[in-house]
Amino acid sequence: MSGSVDVDHRGGVAILSLNNPPVNGLSFSVRTALAAQLDAALTDEAIQAIVVTGTGRMFCGGADIREFSQPTPPETPYLPSVINNIEASAKPVVAAIHGVAAGGGLEIALACHARLASPGTRVGLPEVTLGIVPGAGGTQRMPRLIDVEAALDLIANGKLIRAEKAKQFGFIDEIVESDLLETAITRARTLLGTALRRTSSLENSIIEAKGKPSIFDTFRSNLAKRARGFDAPYACVECIEAAVSLPFADGLTKEHQIFRKLIESDQSKAQRHAFFAEREVSKIPGIPKDTPTQDITTAAVVGFGTMGRSITMNLANAGIPVTVFDVSQEALDRGLKIVKKSYISSVSKGQLTQTDMDKRLALISLTLDYTNTKDVDVVIEAALEELALKKEIFSQLDAVCKTDTILTTNTSTLDINEIASVTKRPEKVIGTHFFNPANVMRLMENVRGVKTSKHTIATIMKLSKTIGKIGVLVGVCDGFVGNRMLYAYRRQADFLLEEGAQPQQIDKVLYDFGMPMGPFQMADLAGLDIGWQIRKGQAATRPKHLRYSPVADRLCELGRFGQKTGAGWYRYEKGSRTPKQDPVVEALIRKVSDGLGITRRPVSDDEIIPRCFYPLINEGAKILQEGIALRASDIDVIWMCGYGFPRFRGGPMFWADLIGIDTIYNTMSRLYDEHGDWFEPAPLLAKLAKEDKGFGDL
Ligand code: 3HC
Repeated sequence: MSGSVDVDHRGGVAILSLNNPPVNGLSFSVRTALAAQLDAALTDEAIQAIVVTGTGRMFCGGADIREFSQPTPPETPYLPSVINNIEASAKPVVAAIHGVAAGGGLEIALACHARLASPGTRVGLPEVTLGIVPGAGGTQRMPRLIDVEAALDLIANGKLIRAEKAKQFGFIDEIVESDLLETAITRARTLLGTALRRTSSLENSIIEAKGKPSIFDTFRSNLAKRARGFDAPYACVECIEAAVSLPFADGLTKEHQIFRKLIESDQSKAQRHAFFAEREVSKIPGIPKDTPTQDITTAAVVGFGTMGRSITMNLANAGIPVTVFDVSQEALDRGLKIVKKSYISSVSKGQLTQTDMDKRLALISLTLDYTNTKDVDVVIEAALEELALKKEIFSQLDAVCKTDTILTTNTSTLDINEIASVTKRPEKVIGTHFFNPANVMRLMENVRGVKTSKHTIATIMKLSKTIGKIGVLVGVCDGFVGNRMLYAYRRQADFLLEEGAQPQQIDKVLYDFGMPMGPFQMADLAGLDIGWQIRKGQAATRPKHLRYSPVADRLCELGRFGQKTGAGWYRYEKGSRTPKQDPVVEALIRKVSDGLGITRRPVSDDEIIPRCFYPLINEGAKILQEGIALRASDIDVIWMCGYGFPRFRGGPMFWADLIGIDTIYNTMSRLYDEHGDWFEPAPLLAKLAKEDKGFGDL
């Protein structure tokens, strides 16, 4: 049992303060206390009015999400009933909100007779991000307080907004610059003897929406792209539609039924897992939260190519001045032009103000001279993926930068230890692997070398947060965690082509699974030439006993490097990014199959998912066993935030647990018997299957 409700009485006003750090979650004990204290205040004749507030840094972060996963989550006291009692109270109830009011927390406030908030407070109903709908009246009260289309947007997107914006919408009554509690107490007293505004009986916006029945279908069709594969956003729409078409009590019943159904769904389990997994990544054994970190107030980026540009923007967006180094003025000028273009586009879409754009650009300075990076706190190297080049850059940086500058590399494959070895500060060298496009993808794979210090790790993990990324700490191996697993997935996609599939079939199946795009479309977007260069470099050392698909090499030999050359796995009409099936590719694949002596066969859609993803999961098991990733859930975060693995599946390792490790192990064993080589089940997979456990049990 955790949490309680503190009670204070001030001149006939009862102040009920939710008290359950860190977010005042509405656990069983908090709900019990709130129900009891509310009853007490309602029956105490000395109490005329009530203020509900939160202790500590916020009002309330909503229901206790961990309770949802208990074998028998406590139903009573039932939050919607407690909230209905607040609304029905004959005594005025005022919500005094500071910090955050989210989910069930905001639902409490929506039932109060007035809502006051401190400036900057964040409010919203983010349940949809957990794969559920607001389950304590939020979908019924919000559309009664504000325009129904605005309610749809707020609830089905789940974003927290500032209280100032919420006041414009109409569900916060006042922003209180002075003493919030005192003002709330005064407001409660002014409501004495007046007709209390009960949200459930407000009808204006509902009547207005009844006159616009198409808003729901329009909203649903807008969701189709944004929420592809997710169930909860559609369920939110259904609940709000019920708010418009049904009496309040019936709408509440409908909301409850949908809430209960979704909470048991795999999608919600996956999204709840994602919520906690993203918070778990910052917990690193041996590096406690209070490990001292270095202030990062200035930075440098080496290389102004695609990655360098977006890393620079990430830093500037966070207010960190950046010195960008490249080898030619032309490269610097071109890079800056592209950065400006990107900011201008954000301004034209209303995502950024002109003033902010100017501020960000003013933080970026260009240089052709390494010595201009000498005083920065961190350098992020984003040059070409060549070990010799990176070593050269690091030795130059080591020579010019002040002794405590942290040197990081954006390598996606190279050995951090080798790079660190050319410096006199290997403890200050770390990998910061950003994902393309780095101004959109949230992941930073932070790669610790054997000599990287705890101080450096803690500083870079903090920097990830500062620039709005999720940093996941991993160890050194070829491809680190994400790309190493990606190879396993990609490899099988290529083998399936040789066996009988076509790129468009595989891409479609994986897209329908929920990936942002299939592997061949992705390769065309990223460019095929980089992988080709890497493969050529590895040709001499490639183990001959392992199956290797030459299809991609054959494409590259034709100068087909993807979208940038108008042809790759698909062909592209001039100026278009729409992939078109290409008979040249089909013929090329057939020729490769023939050359390898493979009899082509129909590959069923059902075969594609296990064939591509189970080897990926198997690789994840090896990575865990080797200690390259700290936790299975860290791998999930890497795949959801860096590769677009669908969040409603919770990441590959969580998804594996849902399928059952024994199923994955048995399939891998069968494929190993049929094909050998790459399918050998990881010992950890075998162990878990034998013990009837999952990655979540580790
Ligand atoms: N239940 C359980 N634990 C929660 C929680 C919740 N609702 N919200 C946060 N936590 C935990 C986090 O896991 C974290 O734990 P840790 O320290 O062990 O890692 C700790 O509280 C602090 O969380 P954050 O690091 O996220 O704190 P921030 O200050 O950065 O953010 C917040 C605060 C905006 C409230 C953010 O925590 C958040 O978004 N929480 C979830 C909000 C939410 O989705 N609410 C809806 C819940 S479902 C619901 O209310 C159903 C209702 O409709 C019936």
